[in-house]
Amino acid sequence: MSSSPLKRKKVKPIRVGILGCGAIGSRIARSIKTECGDRAMVTALFDINPVKATHLQKDLPCKNIVKTSYQDLLKSCDFVVEAVNAADTRDLVLKAILARKDVLVMSVGKFIEGESIFKIAQKQGVRVLIPSGALAGIDAIKAASLKRIDSIKLTTRKPVYGFAGNSYVKTQKIDLSRIKKETLLFEGKVQEAVKCFPQNINVAATIALASGCVEKLRIRITTSPEFKVNSHEIEMRGEFGRLVTRTENVVCPDNPKTSLLAVLSAVHTLKEYFQGVKIG
Ligand SMILES: NC(=O)c1ccc[n+]([C@@H]2O[C@H](COP(=O)([O-])OP(=O)(O)OC[C@H]3O[C@@H](n4cnc5c(N)ncnc54)[C@H](O)[C@@H]3O)[C@@H](O)[C@H]2O)c1
Repeated sequence: MSSSPLKRKKVKPIRVGILGCGAIGSRIARSIKTECGDRAMVTALFDINPVKATHLQKDLPCKNIVKTSYQDLLKSCDFVVEAVNAADTRDLVLKAILARKDVLVMSVGKFIEGESIFKIAQKQGVRVLIPSGALAGIDAIKAASLKRIDSIKLTTRKPVYGFAGNSYVKTQKIDLSRIKKETLLFEGKVQEAVKCFPQNINVAATIALASGCVEKLRIRITTSPEFKVNSHEIEMRGEFGRLVTRTENVVCPDNPKTSLLAVLSAVHTLKEYFQGVKIG
């Protein structure tokens, strides 16, 4: 008997490698089975702290996937999820692109200066995905950027504990324990913001890349004991009109510097990529 032409052709799942098994990498890895079904499977894990990769493996369907080097991870996957807080994140992502792997990038702040990774990816014929993170309005910013943009302002407000251990706060001699009301920690350009707050302000870099308007983007970062959530407020003006958005984000239970929405936006970006559907 001939097989039905309507029978769905079995497609091989895309093999995903997780670079960095911390708060974001682990949550993304665990969500791939539930959100992406049989379109993708995690086949490689690498973290400079092998305990983290081994711990994560216990929750995943494929076993023996902890790699002892990044090179090994690249050999065992088609797609790389970058979720590291490394000094050389940019080089790690470039290695994946040169190995012709599509990449989802979380450490967006590392990519607003230097040669555009998008151009290199284009030459290599691979795709770089940047999730909207803990922001609302990235879709509108991208569309508006096709015409003149006059100004963009991002105001980020985070609870005091979200800045614990930040070296800029220390060098500015800001005593977080003495803050009693809303206090401005930083105001300036996106390039300085991502250097001073590498763990807190990837959203600023996401706006810079979405708008292509680094010079017209101003960043303000404030904190207060009254803030219980991470909030991001964007105000943009241009030929399209005016945009105002605000998110009030629950922090990620595994890492107070990260918003839960940032993780969810990454998982949803992957879901659309694996399903081949893109909304927005
Ligand atoms: N795009 C966004 O909206 C957004 C939001 C929040 C965080 N982030 C960024 O995502 C990244 C991950 O965040 P997180 O909350 O999971 O951090 P995390 O500290 O919980 O995890 C990072 C992991 O990377 C590992 N690591 C460090 N250097 C490495 C290397 N060279 N090779 C392999 N592993 C290495 C660490 O051991 C750790 O397990 C950070 O750069 C953070 O700034 C982006």
